[in-house]
Amino acid sequence: MTLTAEPIVATSTSSALAGQIDATNAEPSPGSVMNSNEIPANADPRIVAWVEEMAILTTPDRVVWIDGSRAEQDELLRVMVSTGTVTQLNPEHRPYSFLARSSPDDVARVESRTFICSATESDAGPTNNWADPAQMRETLNGLFDGAMRGRTMYVVPFSMGPLGSPLSRYGVQVTDSPYVVVSMGIMTRMGSAVYQHITPNSEWVPAAHTVGAPLDPGEVDVAWPCNTTKYISHFPETREIWSFGSAYGGNAILAKKAFALRIASVIARDEGWLAEHMLLLKVTNPRGRAFHVAAAFPSACGKTNFAMLRPTIPGWNVETIGDDIAWLAPGSDGKLRAINPEAGFFGVAPGTGVATNATAVATIWGNTVFTNVALRDDGDVWWEGLTQSPPDHLVDWTGQDWTPASGRPAAHPNSRFTVAAAQCPSISDDWDDPRGVVIDAIIFGGRRATNVPLVAEARDWEHGVFLGATISSERTAAAEGTVGELRRDPFAMLPFCGYNMADHWAHWLKVGGSLRATGGVPRIFQVNWFRKGEDGRYLWPGFGDNGRVLAWILDRVEGRAPAVASPLGWLPAPGAIDLEGASVSESDWEQLFAIDPAAHLAEADDAERFFDSFGERVPDAVRGQLEQLRSRMTAL
Ligand code: OXD
Ligand code: MN
Repeated sequence: MTLTAEPIVATSTSSALAGQIDATNAEPSPGSVMNSNEIPANADPRIVAWVEEMAILTTPDRVVWIDGSRAEQDELLRVMVSTGTVTQLNPEHRPYSFLARSSPDDVARVESRTFICSATESDAGPTNNWADPAQMRETLNGLFDGAMRGRTMYVVPFSMGPLGSPLSRYGVQVTDSPYVVVSMGIMTRMGSAVYQHITPNSEWVPAAHTVGAPLDPGEVDVAWPCNTTKYISHFPETREIWSFGSAYGGNAILAKKAFALRIASVIARDEGWLAEHMLLLKVTNPRGRAFHVAAAFPSACGKTNFAMLRPTIPGWNVETIGDDIAWLAPGSDGKLRAINPEAGFFGVAPGTGVATNATAVATIWGNTVFTNVALRDDGDVWWEGLTQSPPDHLVDWTGQDWTPASGRPAAHPNSRFTVAAAQCPSISDDWDDPRGVVIDAIIFGGRRATNVPLVAEARDWEHGVFLGATISSERTAAAEGTVGELRRDPFAMLPFCGYNMADHWAHWLKVGGSLRATGGVPRIFQVNWFRKGEDGRYLWPGFGDNGRVLAWILDRVEGRAPAVASPLGWLPAPGAIDLEGASVSESDWEQLFAIDPAAHLAEADDAERFFDSFGERVPDAVRGQLEQLRSRMTAL
């Protein structure tokens, strides 16, 4: 996006993108049932046929083939300003930036309405909602029938990964939400150039999306149309996505969690690579050697902050490649190579401030779409944590007046910024390298108050897979369930794996085996920034000081950091992590690595119950790791 300080003005327009235009402006294309703008000449006939099918089913007033141009984006935003879907922020403070307020019942991913419709239930596994594909198709056909009446269907071609990269995959989303089109334009490489990469023999993913709110003639639209009925359905065998009823985030921006994780994980399983919920970093050490790191953390563990880390340890430099999703594949050189398939960040706003993530704050200086944050009186945005103290008056995410005395958050806890990755000051020069970057280390993290040390190195790949399979967080009072009980989130993929999670572990073992054969196996580490002392205090300062842990990890990779063997893997030898300038007392340091065998044995029982829920599909090597851990703990 290029910068403009000019406000976008709501006008009644006769552009083919506008929601209210006279349909007679757009000539039906010859040979087509659609009232559409010109069909791109290089669109694969399968795409044109599918779009026609969707148009016949959903009966939009018109079909617009999105080209990805700046003029088109301006026009979509102009339409949304006129319908009240977005408000333009004051360009003096936040150039070319917009605020959307969603319907209060459409504010997050709805995992309970997310379905994996594989041919058999066991292929979805016990951690997914399974639905019979034939029945789901019938339900969706009923819901999509006429669902776009009175609206425009946009046809959005997109690439996950750099155009033309052997690691990239392509998709086409139809949607009746201009907000989704603009979001897809930021989050993916979107536009007509994609069509030249979808050739008659290539695979592409069709993603059908409707907000599920047809308009009767003359009916006035609402600012955020959606439906109380919601379905986010995935058909892994046919690589299709169908989403009904929501316009929010991962429910509607189908390139992200639905394609790049749920469907891509299935493609990856079948083709021998990995689609993971991981950030990607480039880290350069004081001697100028660069490394690349992939790190999986469950949602709400600070992935975006870690991806934009400013290390407090002198001489180390961290650059960003991705903050949410990584695709990793063994390369022809036998090494594990990774790309960030996305092109933008859909970051959680609350808690993002100069103190916690100054890089993110700098990234969103302009050209940003905000959703459900608060509006300042000067036409800029605000959320909890952006500054130390709130402004005296705001309009909150629901559009109501707000003051610090209101006693409720001004921004929704899941409010977001959507911004191009290229705008991030710490973006790495190889972030869009079509060959991907070579991964030197893989990190698994959770949010654990107890048991899990600050850092440990896995004994080998199999032990690393076990660490990934047992990622967990203690439940807090903020979520349903018994406080202190472990909520398991294997590989941080619980809501994102498109197939049986135990098969995912087997797949990791297989990929590790082939990397071992070519000498390209990265080292695996476990980290935990969230361990607490008996007094309930966090023992580790986190944020920029996490760079100290990263430095030890990469010194291990380089073969220069001492470690001591422990039942949990390799731990830093005394003095091996540089704590100069970090406020960590000796007793806190000891507690960060303390091992309580009884607590670990109890946790092993919990892990066994979890494994049992997958029955026979759990690989022997994973069960074997649990037994080895037990015997190491018993021997202590
Ligand atoms: C996300 C998530 O929004 O993991 O990235 O929930
Ligand atoms: Mn995520």
